[in-house]
Amino acid sequence: MIRFEGVSKMYGDSCVVNNSNLHINQGEIVALIGPSGSGKTTTMKMINRLIDPTEGRIFIGGTDILKLNVVELRRNIGYVIQNIGLLPHMTIADNVALVPRLKQWDENVYRKRADELMDMVGLDPETYRNRYPSELSGGQQQRIGVIRALAADPEIVLMDEPFSALDPISREQLQDEIVYLQQKLRKTIVFVTHDIDEAIKIADRICILNCGEVIQTGTPEQILRHPANDFVKNFIGLHRLSQTGIMPEITEIMIRPVTSKPNRGLTEALNNMRKQRVDSLLIVDQNERLLGIVGVWEIQNKFQNEALTVGDVMNPNLPVVLYNQPLSEAVNIISRHQVAYLPVIDDNRRLLGVITRAGLVDVMAKQLGATQPQRVGGVQAC
Ligand SMILES: Nc1ncnc2c1ncn2[C@@H]1O[C@H](COP(=O)(O)OP(=O)(O)OP(=O)(O)O)[C@@H](O)[C@H]1O
Ligand SMILES: [Mg+2]
Repeated sequence: MIRFEGVSKMYGDSCVVNNSNLHINQGEIVALIGPSGSGKTTTMKMINRLIDPTEGRIFIGGTDILKLNVVELRRNIGYVIQNIGLLPHMTIADNVALVPRLKQWDENVYRKRADELMDMVGLDPETYRNRYPSELSGGQQQRIGVIRALAADPEIVLMDEPFSALDPISREQLQDEIVYLQQKLRKTIVFVTHDIDEAIKIADRICILNCGEVIQTGTPEQILRHPANDFVKNFIGLHRLSQTGIMPEITEIMIRPVTSKPNRGLTEALNNMRKQRVDSLLIVDQNERLLGIVGVWEIQNKFQNEALTVGDVMNPNLPVVLYNQPLSEAVNIISRHQVAYLPVIDDNRRLLGVITRAGLVDVMAKQLGATQPQRVGGVQAC
């Protein structure tokens, strides 16, 4: 939908956006996030040509925006500017209907539209339509800023820190409203924020900027799990990975299993256990496929019979977990079956490792001790 191709913006000698190749798909919310001065507003303003790039090109729906009429382009892109920007001498209804009026919609249609939008964000039109911006609270003004950008039903909406001036409660409320509205409206939204929690909550994809460069783009989950470098790690908070709901994958915490082939004798198996300091062995075939488990007590019970192998005494029925299941599933199985560890297998039943109770305790302890992610403030020296 929106495509940057090698876009740079210079002011004199300083490059405030450097070779950006941002892609934004139709119907997604992309959050631009980065420290103050990292080029977020500049990136956004280049989309509706409030600023023109020094180099590179920007396409909307495949058309170079330089080929579009600039007034038309702006009227077809909703814009919530940093610091609200309501017009103080116009009523709320007139502020909301600003672009529809410029587009010469019929008065009845734009009045009705303004009322609908006010309803949508919980502001009763009867009460608010004839007030002036100064007669609204900060949160109410920001709601108006958001619906004004939606009034003419644009496909693209640019939102530059639309909730920055709000207290945490109103902010959360408005974030929920945006998520809810987006489920219905499916606009293409570029959303600038300083707040990683806000980005994670709202965005389909997050684009992290620093000093005019795109450092990483990905879904919130991808960025949390695989931060590209130390800057991103610091940005999302070092312990974020182990925070609520975000567990490592099974393969990240599994350890090497102690195994035996089924044709080994019982004495050899006991020696092996003693050496490795374990009380059971997992039995695997030549292809490392899991056949069963044998514990020290089974061996002891059958030890008199010299002809037996571990394959004869093993228990083939044991709980297992697939490597690509969520870790929470491993936790469930371990507690349901009261086992000390759980073999991790692949789709061919090949044994990849084991998850131990002790390993899970470690993960949980880290979660409980996790620190909050940082908010990014201040201006970075680029
Ligand atoms: N008209 C201008 N002339 C010169 N430099 C400018 C101009 N506009 C912006 N800049 C510089 O470009 C850099 C990027 O600015 P931009 O407004 O894009 O940052 P931002 O990421 O939106 O920051 P913030 O989070 O503070 O809003 C900053 O260093 C800023 O000082
Ligand atoms: Mg800005």
